[in-house]
Amino acid sequence: MQTFEQLSSQFTEYFQQDHFPQEPATLYQPNRYFLQLGGKRVRPVGCLMGNELFDNIVPDAWKVATAIELFHNFTLIHDDIMDRAPLRRGMPTVHHKYGESTALLAGDVMLVAAYENLRKISPNFLVPVLGLFNKTAREVCEGQQLDMDFEQRDDVTLDEYEHMISLKTSVLMAGSLKLGAILGGASKRNQDLIYEFGRKVGLAFQVQDDYLDAFGDPEKFGKQVGGDIKANKKTFLLIHALQTADKGQRESLQHLMLTNSDNKVDDVLQLFRQTGVDQWARELQDNYLQQALQHLEDIAVTSSRKEPLRQLALYLVQREH
Ligand code: IPE
Ligand code: IPE
Ligand code: MG
Ligand code: MG
Ligand code: MG
Repeated sequence: MQTFEQLSSQFTEYFQQDHFPQEPATLYQPNRYFLQLGGKRVRPVGCLMGNELFDNIVPDAWKVATAIELFHNFTLIHDDIMDRAPLRRGMPTVHHKYGESTALLAGDVMLVAAYENLRKISPNFLVPVLGLFNKTAREVCEGQQLDMDFEQRDDVTLDEYEHMISLKTSVLMAGSLKLGAILGGASKRNQDLIYEFGRKVGLAFQVQDDYLDAFGDPEKFGKQVGGDIKANKKTFLLIHALQTADKGQRESLQHLMLTNSDNKVDDVLQLFRQTGVDQWARELQDNYLQQALQHLEDIAVTSSRKEPLRQLALYLVQREH
């Protein structure tokens, strides 16, 4: 069994290949720029791990992992337009550097490149793999729309938040692991268990993402800290603050959500701290993590084979970027 670091460095090498033609450079250079910024590669590595849990890694797993990472990067390019984000991976976002129209097309063609990799897998896996890939992709779009719809509301519940992040983030993590498991010949029950493991890990991962967006170290985070607050994103931080605030605090929060003042981020952060959001974040994450580990436990393979996935789950919630 290989560790996250081992698989991640092998994947990074495999992924170096040219994904795009040269011309027109005005379309493909932005994609090259974005891909060479790197990223943690957790989803493709998840696919490889999901495969290796059940069998030696098969050649198709590299192609599916590549499709997953290209799909993920496509969602990020479009997400940064939607979120008006200036920074990603410590560098200017594609639309900030090359303009919105190019960023839209660069994302579109990145998605096509993802499917081109899927086309190359063995015919006997094509139908189940495409089926899960398409379901996942559609759900990510649904989650992204809910994320934006929630910007306009101030009564979003924690259950609605969980549903939204499950769609926009967790299903891709879950789907990546399950795609690997399918290629590894896992039973239906084991496929379902690894999917649920990934879904719960994905929820904890998005909680960490939302936490870092508010409280992360700007040097390490690589994205604009406070971006979610500026956009009135209904993260668990804001939902928790709105639900537990006293009358005065709630009025302040509601007022701040209507403004775009220079001190909006600082003022909201102060209210977050007053409502004990730190402790709450840990509890929420720990809850998802324990549920994830239980699903992993239930998968019918020798426990020692699961160690890399346990480490992956812990890494994803402790990350600082
Ligand atoms: C960012 O994903 C989008 C979310 C779902 C939070 P990652 O944090 O995995 O981004 P990279 O690929 O490592 O930059
Ligand atoms: C993004 O959620 C999820 C997808 C890209 C599908 P966020 O908007 O929180 O991700 P970041 O923080 O920009 O990476
Ligand atoms: Mg975003
Ligand atoms: Mg977003
Ligand atoms: Mg975020």
